[in-house]
Amino acid sequence: MLLLALCAALPLLADEGMWLPNLIARRIDDMGAKGCRLSAEDIYSVNKASLKDAVVLFGSGCTGELVSPQGLLFTNHHCGYSYIQRHSSVEHDYLKDGFWAMSRDEELPNPGLTVSFLERMEDVTDVVLYGWEPSMGEEARDSVATANARRLEKEVSVPAKGLRASVEALYHANKYYLFVYRIYRDVRLVGAPPSSIGKFGGDTDNWMWPRHTGDFSIFRIYADADGNPADYSPDNVPYRPKKYFSISRAGVKEGDFTFVYGCPGSTREYVHSEEVRYIGEVSDPQKIALRTKRLDIQRKYMSQSQAVRIQYSAKNASVSNAWKKWQGESRGVARLGTVAAKQAYEKRFSAWAAGGPYDGLVERLGALYGRREPYYLAYEYFNETVRSMELLSLAWHVHGLLERGRDAGPMVKNFFKDYYEPIDRESLAAMLEAFRTNMPLDFQPEYFKSRLSECGSVDALVQDIYSRTIFTDRDAVASLGKGDMLRVESDPAYLLYKAFSDWMNSDIMPVLDSINKEIKTANRLYMKAQMEFEPERDFYPDANLTLRVAYGKVAGYSPADAVYYSPVSTLKGIMEKDNPDIFDYNIPQVLRDIYAAGGHEAQPVCFLATNHTTGGNSGSPVLNADGKLVGINFDRVWEGTMSDLQFDPDYCRNISLDVRYLLFVIKEIGHAEWLFAEMDMD
Ligand code: ARG
Ligand code: ASP
Repeated sequence: MLLLALCAALPLLADEGMWLPNLIARRIDDMGAKGCRLSAEDIYSVNKASLKDAVVLFGSGCTGELVSPQGLLFTNHHCGYSYIQRHSSVEHDYLKDGFWAMSRDEELPNPGLTVSFLERMEDVTDVVLYGWEPSMGEEARDSVATANARRLEKEVSVPAKGLRASVEALYHANKYYLFVYRIYRDVRLVGAPPSSIGKFGGDTDNWMWPRHTGDFSIFRIYADADGNPADYSPDNVPYRPKKYFSISRAGVKEGDFTFVYGCPGSTREYVHSEEVRYIGEVSDPQKIALRTKRLDIQRKYMSQSQAVRIQYSAKNASVSNAWKKWQGESRGVARLGTVAAKQAYEKRFSAWAAGGPYDGLVERLGALYGRREPYYLAYEYFNETVRSMELLSLAWHVHGLLERGRDAGPMVKNFFKDYYEPIDRESLAAMLEAFRTNMPLDFQPEYFKSRLSECGSVDALVQDIYSRTIFTDRDAVASLGKGDMLRVESDPAYLLYKAFSDWMNSDIMPVLDSINKEIKTANRLYMKAQMEFEPERDFYPDANLTLRVAYGKVAGYSPADAVYYSPVSTLKGIMEKDNPDIFDYNIPQVLRDIYAAGGHEAQPVCFLATNHTTGGNSGSPVLNADGKLVGINFDRVWEGTMSDLQFDPDYCRNISLDVRYLLFVIKEIGHAEWLFAEMDMD
């Protein structure tokens, strides 16, 4: 009975967590019990090469991993997408057809692309808060911390060696950590599958299982002769990493231990019930409804014309990506009862806090979120409506460029390449109508209200804007110069955007910023208090794009009554989906031929596991019990996307590409087996 009562009191943390690698010793016994055969030093060490030396932050929002002593790197296709696109033209459509360098000299440089290796990380809270004491108050804490952090970063950074130091707040700024990165900037494209493999399933399958996306691309890091970071130069040589991952071709099966080593972007696991209620019951549903309207309009025109489909494919993907994620998040917190569970927790917390330094804290936080809500919703509404409208934004940006005496030509040219007026115009009408009906009258700009009463309706207002604006006329916009300022400033598209933007700056942001500041401070105390309230619990810090380890096991899940998804997908499933008439499912003919030749039915493609990941973990190495590469993380299942707020071992699954499918595609599709020679495979 006692044991049962104890079990019920402790939250079940099965596989939840994004752990700091330098503190992985605290988890290594649990990892071992779940099957891991590595030591903490194998995973993270400052004294010898460890697995952390084979993981990089790829660009500014993905992860990548080293897989050869010659600087070869794997990441996702969707992480390399914009670079692959930049090398593509009508003659060489690498996005569509794929790209395979057949030797080092064919690898393509990518100006602006960097990869960051973590040299070391350490707790510098004492240094950052040096000179501050509680009696000085919170304002002082912030300014002391900022000044000390900037000074420390400056001291430790060595730009000439590509060393950049960055102080990051963890545990809602209760702790500060120094991260020292070595940043390489000559990173070349080596290979990418055709999009019909690398993006197979497109937005139809995005966030879904069963999944069959070959979501990988291959790059190589180059360095100067001494191995130091350098600008692109033909004289640079492949970077020799301290460590790279060996590849295991043994594969995975249900129940196998795996871990993910990467850079998760952002989570909010310890926030107040009111923040979760706002996200799950207000913000997500409102934004989903707005985006559903825009996606319907895009889809209608995209299905009527091939040209429009191409123009809007990237825009459609980005609108749709968060739209689908929010649906899983909002249903997920509802199903889990996160708000009620947090309220119950807050009640226990309050009872514990009574009479002490944290007395009244959760009540104060709740009230702050209540005050913030209308302002935050207005801010989100502005972002999702006016700020996302193409013509209005064009007017705004052209004005900004002219004001600074810059040439708007290139921007205008780019804009019209992918602009289809009927989509934008219908979206504008739908978004303004939603704004008019859903925002309280005292949360609408005066200009908008008066224009509406002048014109009589949203449709008439949009009609009026489009009949008078200059911004639909490509040539006229391209030839605008500084002398046309008056004309731009009286344009109805510009005026509408400006009215909303001014209203944001005067009526919304000042209030929002000041409440947010109070929330930040209260959240710091609340985090600290929660750690004192549950001293036995091992708290992992919320994600902030710093390096983390998540571990779990290969596992299927049951998304609905009477449905069970097993965790491994195969080439057979690609053939089941294959359909030349559906863009997302139209595979290359060569893949059909290979399959028809026989013997590849069981070729594994993707797998599911219980690792706790989020955006930014894309491209992360998925490793087996021996630290060998078995997959590349690229997504989660949508039913589990509330893991950013609360992890549920029954529904939260990360989706990985099976590394054996990557090897299959390199060989059978790319004929780039020359790359195998430098990889370490067993
Ligand atoms: N859902 C994944 C992530 O959040 C992949 C997104 C890219 N793929 C797409 N079809 N939009 O980033
Ligand atoms: N697809 C995400 C990424 O790009 C990963 C995730 O949200 O699970 O980082």
